[in-house]
Amino acid sequence: MATLAPQPAFTHWSQQQPAHALDHIPGEDGWPIVGTTFALLADPIGYGDRMRAKYGPVYRNRGFGRRGVMLYGADANELVLFDRDKLFSSEQGWGPVLDQLFPRGLMLIDFDHHRADRRALSIAFKPEPMRHYADALNRGIAARVEQWSGQEMLFYPAIKQLTLDLAADSFMGLPLGPEADQINKAFVDMVAASIGVVRKPLPFTAMGRGVAGRKFLVEYFTAEALRRRSEGGGQDMFSQFARATREDGELLPVDQVVDHMIFLMMAAHDTITSSATSLVWQLAKHPEWQDKLRAEVLALTGGTARAITYEELGKLDLTEMAFKEALRLIPPVPSLPRRALREFTFHGFTIPAGTGVGISPASVHLMEEHWPDPRKFDPLRFTPENSAGRHKYAWVPFGGGAHMCLGLHFAYMQIKLLMAHLLTRYSIELEPGYAPEWQPWPIPKPKDGLKVTFKPL
Ligand code: HEM
Repeated sequence: MATLAPQPAFTHWSQQQPAHALDHIPGEDGWPIVGTTFALLADPIGYGDRMRAKYGPVYRNRGFGRRGVMLYGADANELVLFDRDKLFSSEQGWGPVLDQLFPRGLMLIDFDHHRADRRALSIAFKPEPMRHYADALNRGIAARVEQWSGQEMLFYPAIKQLTLDLAADSFMGLPLGPEADQINKAFVDMVAASIGVVRKPLPFTAMGRGVAGRKFLVEYFTAEALRRRSEGGGQDMFSQFARATREDGELLPVDQVVDHMIFLMMAAHDTITSSATSLVWQLAKHPEWQDKLRAEVLALTGGTARAITYEELGKLDLTEMAFKEALRLIPPVPSLPRRALREFTFHGFTIPAGTGVGISPASVHLMEEHWPDPRKFDPLRFTPENSAGRHKYAWVPFGGGAHMCLGLHFAYMQIKLLMAHLLTRYSIELEPGYAPEWQPWPIPKPKDGLKVTFKPL
């Protein structure tokens, strides 16, 4: 579908295209200065649907002060994510949002450098370390879930805190306590800053706190990486990264280990929090699915509420399908940005080098042609029979191609273990008629925190 033309590559995301470069693409510039930003943020999916209905699957908009192009559809997802011709830079797509606080993370490097580092970091996701994380997750989840018995609670903040605490153990090998708390606080400040309106690190702004948080984390992780390297041992993710080598056998430089670690914490945190929340919400609305998932876990454990082992995770098919369906309905990363390094054509439109290009998993996940009755929660869409023949890029909550989520198996594991512990102890209940509103951006979450009750069985 895409054809290539030789063009000079844009080498940095801050380089601007001439203002008229996209005049030939149908679309809108929105209001002076703010462009289409507010319409987009208020209702990203509705806005996309309206634009697509008016202009078709390729349209121009102007968010955050820049003109860009959205490409809609599973074929657009494939073109951009699979990126057969190395047309699209992830570094230059994510750079304006993430570069100040999470520079040089995997999503902020491209092509050969990216491939080499990704390969080195993959060691932390092999079966041996995954087994270790499964034990840590089981311990942490069981202890916390016990405390959720009976009373109505806000699920989103509770799972956010639990995910942070679990990461201290699996990602950094730290027990809960003041050291883990200090790291978590610095990290939370960074994440808040990455979406702050003020982009300069002025005192008393989110960005000021975020940059200070980054400084603290860089110092802490640098000292720790050196220590863990010299002492060896440690099955946690950070210790694995500290010992990771490139293909030539050289250790990754310490500053790069640190950047990768900080980025990975960010990539893991709100995504797991958001998807665990949307799955719990769906299950609360569909008690018949709670029963099915509970029966699946109990069949595996022989009727007791014991921990599921890493080896057993592959047998939780229904739980996996329910999670996939929750990710379809509310993908934690609703749209993905790239920048075209060379000119290409798509659906008859020539899109010049330097164009910011977006795709929208959230919208494609609701396209009737791939998902009949698209807003209905139906995990059975993901049985092998029902999946056969569906476009491979119609479901992309973890992205695809070279930058596909590195932690997706970790995410499946944490969610499956969480469900096993929750559903064998409780039924998940909502007040009748309760329907929380979701904030769609940047990572979806229920505005009121999601009120649920875990009623002991
Ligand atoms: C449900 C949970 C998660 C979702 C929905 C999710 C989604 C994504 C998506 C969509 C991307 C690709 C972005 C792009 O191509 O522009 C990505 C990349 C990434 N994710 Fe996740 N993620 C999740 C959990 C995690 C976890 C738990 C970890 C780590 C343990 C993690 C680590 C990463 C990393 C390192 C990348 C960058 C990969 C690369 O650029 O090569 N993610 N994730």
